[in-house]
Amino acid sequence: MNLGQEAPSVANLRMEFTVKSSVGINVIDEFLCGNAVDVVRQLPESIVDTVVTSPPYYQQRDYGSLQQIGQEISPAAYVERMAELFSELRRVVKPSGSLWMVIGDKYLKGELLGMPWRVCLALKEVGWVLRSDCIWHKPNAMPSSVKTRPTVDHEYIFFFSHSKKDYFYDADAVREPHVTFSESSKMKGGRRHFGKRGGTPEKGKNSGDSNLHDGRWDQAFHPKGRNKRTVWSISLSKFRDAHFAVYPESLVETCLNASCPTGGVVLDPFSGAGTTAMVAKRSGRKYIAIDCVPEYIEIAKKRVETQE
Ligand SMILES: C[S@@+](CC[C@H](N)C(=O)[O-])C[C@H]1O[C@@H](n2cnc3c(N)ncnc32)[C@H](O)[C@@H]1O
Repeated sequence: MNLGQEAPSVANLRMEFTVKSSVGINVIDEFLCGNAVDVVRQLPESIVDTVVTSPPYYQQRDYGSLQQIGQEISPAAYVERMAELFSELRRVVKPSGSLWMVIGDKYLKGELLGMPWRVCLALKEVGWVLRSDCIWHKPNAMPSSVKTRPTVDHEYIFFFSHSKKDYFYDADAVREPHVTFSESSKMKGGRRHFGKRGGTPEKGKNSGDSNLHDGRWDQAFHPKGRNKRTVWSISLSKFRDAHFAVYPESLVETCLNASCPTGGVVLDPFSGAGTTAMVAKRSGRKYIAIDCVPEYIEIAKKRVETQE
C-alpha cells in the first residue's frame, strides 16, 4: 500500500487515508510507503503492542529520499524530527505497550556526538518512560585503524514503556542461561544458601536482604534461566539485497518475545529490508511496516513472503 511517495502534502495523505479507511482499509500486516510521521498520523490510536525499530542514524547514510530522516543540518534538527515522530507513535501504541529503539552514535571530526542519548532524552520529554538502556555488543564489528580511542563495537538498545503504569513484559520468554551454580557446579555453599526462592536468609553484611537473596536464586537456580541482562552479544547479519545494514533477526526476536503477545501488533516506522515484519510473521505476530523508499518496500515484501 502506498500512503504517499516523494514529498506529498500531509493534507493529501490524510485525505487519501480517510477516504480509504472509511471503506475499511486494513493497515495490519501491510507495508505502508511514505514519510513515517505522515503515515503514523493517519493510524488509529492504541492499536500497537510494541514498536521495534532502528532509525536512520544522524549523517550516516543517504537513502535518496526527500522525506528521509538523518540528513538534517544539525544534531538538534535531527533530534527534533525524531521527537515529533516518536510522539506521534506513542499515540498509536497501547497504554500497556512499549518501544525498542536500536541506535548507534556518530563521530564528527573525531568528536563523539552522543546521539543515542540525545534522542533518548528527547523521547522521555514527549512522554516515553525509559525502562532500560541495553548495549548491543557486536563481536564481528568492523575493524578500525583508530589509535587515539577504543574501536567502537556496540550500539544502544533503548527500551521504553508507553506510560508509568504496568506494561507488558514477559521476562520468562527472554531468560538466558545461568552462568554460576550450574548442575555440575562445585559451589555447594551457593546451593545451600540460595537454592530456593525465599530460602535461607544470608548471614553477614547482607543478612535479611530478601531482594538480594531472590536475585541470587534467579541468577543461579530459576528453572528457565536467569533474567535477561543488559548486554546483548549478537553478531551483525547480512542481507544481500539491501544497500544498508539490516539488524539481526535474533535481536528483533528478543524484543518481540519480551514485549509483544502472540497475535499482537509490532510497528516499525523505518522498515528497510523488513526484518521486523519478517520476524513478526514467523513468530505469530502481526506487523505494520513503514518506509519512505518504494524500492525498499518491494524488497521487504518479497523477503517477508519468501522468509529469506
Ligand atoms: C537503518 S534502515 C532500517 C533497516 C531495518 N532495521 C532492517 O533490518 O532492514 C533505515 C530505513 O529508514 C528509512 N527512512 C529514512 N527516513 C524515513 C522517513 N522519514 N520515513 C520512513 N522511512 C524512512 C530508510 O529508507 C531506511 O530503509
